[in-house]
Amino acid sequence: SDPLRLGVAGLGTVGIGTVKIIQRHADLIARRAGRPVTITAVSARDRTKNRDADLSGFAWEEDAVALARRDDVDVFVELMGGADGVALAATKAAIDTGKDVVTANKAMLALHGQALAEAAEAKGHVIRFEAAVAGGIPVVKALTEGLAGNEIRRVMGVMNGTCNYILTRMEDAGLPYDTVFEEARQLGYLEADPNLDVGGIDAGHKLSLLASIAFGTRVAFDAVELEGIGRVSIDDIRRAADMGYRIKLLGVAQMTGRGLEQRMSPCLVPAESPLGQLQGGTNMVVIEGDSVGQIVLRGAGAGEGPTASAVMSDVIEIARGSRISTFGQPATALADPVPARATAP
Ligand code: NAP
Ligand code: HSE
Repeated sequence: SDPLRLGVAGLGTVGIGTVKIIQRHADLIARRAGRPVTITAVSARDRTKNRDADLSGFAWEEDAVALARRDDVDVFVELMGGADGVALAATKAAIDTGKDVVTANKAMLALHGQALAEAAEAKGHVIRFEAAVAGGIPVVKALTEGLAGNEIRRVMGVMNGTCNYILTRMEDAGLPYDTVFEEARQLGYLEADPNLDVGGIDAGHKLSLLASIAFGTRVAFDAVELEGIGRVSIDDIRRAADMGYRIKLLGVAQMTGRGLEQRMSPCLVPAESPLGQLQGGTNMVVIEGDSVGQIVLRGAGAGEGPTASAVMSDVIEIARGSRISTFGQPATALADPVPARATAP
């Protein structure tokens, strides 16, 4: 059968990871998808950059918007990043020209995901974003597919690996926040704007997407109560440890009698609990459903292989002909959430 033809915009960590999986597993993907998956064209800022993959078989587009509009592309794979700018313009161009979209861009989705999904659905297409939440952990598919028969009671977890690295390193090495922050910068863990990580914003973006999927409500990032890890001191961590707790940047989304509660903040968790045991850059998402009970998903929330793994799960679903919205229901059917403030202002 006809191949599914991708246009990949962004050839950084995730983009190159995606190219490599398609090249390494062409046969396996074709078997699972029921048709070959190929890359027609790619785009990035710097054509001359040395990249760790063979791109010789792909057309090069200087402009990601032009890539998104190409007639020989069926699915636009947006892996550039940024809430607005080129990523948003190219995604809109892809939808306008009748393409499905796969993206890992949680910042764009938290702000524009609702409108983008509605626009895609109006054209009979989908925007899918497994990679945007918790990297390699298939949490979006767990909610929309595996747990589709459940009323979801609560979703919570550690969704920013960099913050988890900083907090666990502070505890393990007894080092102050500023020193470990600098280490994380040297190791290349921090986003270009570190406040996205340590300010809890990146994790808040992810939580707002999960809450939308879990509770069937419109994405409401503005209503997430956010506090980052910048004020966590080594003394806080020691005192918590003395009482048998660890401090984690924990996201919690739950539907309460007062409305939808979404908060992302440093929390005490029992040291012996699965969340307390979570080390380094790992992510963990805990889901509670009325029939299933509690599910714990743990794995790599970032990195080339894990994030590209999630991108490919969406690509293969599209190749199979799945029309399931990433929100688990049509975006137009999502309800307006009533935000409930978890803490007094
Ligand atoms: P990255 O390594 O910084 O790569 C970004 C790529 O986009 C680069 O190839 C860059 O081109 C290209 N790009 C940037 N601006 C562009 C423009 N205006 N036009 C064309 N290309 C442009 O980023 P990444 O880590 O792969 O992240 C990509 C997306 O995945 C982001 O939305 C991020 O939040 C998300 N994500 C990443 C991870 C992760 O572990 N890295 C995990 C989950 C989600 P050049 O290479 O030429 O500079
Ligand atoms: N900065 C993010 C993290 C990257 O540390 O988890 C993956 O979304």
